Amino acid sequence: MTEARSRSGEQVSIRQYGDGPLLVRHADVIVTDDGREHEVTRPVVALCTCQRSQRMPWCDSTHKSVRRD
Ligand code: FES
Repeated sequence: MTEARSRSGEQVSIRQYGDGPLLVRHADVIVTDDGREHEVTRPVVALCTCQRSQRMPWCDSTHKSVRRD
């Protein structure tokens, strides 16, 4: 299971964005199922939920074309 963590203690929030990604706010690191840590450098990041992104774990908007087909 992917985890979003904050090192500063700030509350991390996660919200589903329509049929697309999960929007994660205030996380400092994303830990994916394989145990890899992905540093977060922006206040809000989008995590892929369709598993088709070329930039996993980040959403690259591929879901838009996949769901249209
Ligand atoms: S949710 Fe956007 S590419 Fe997967």
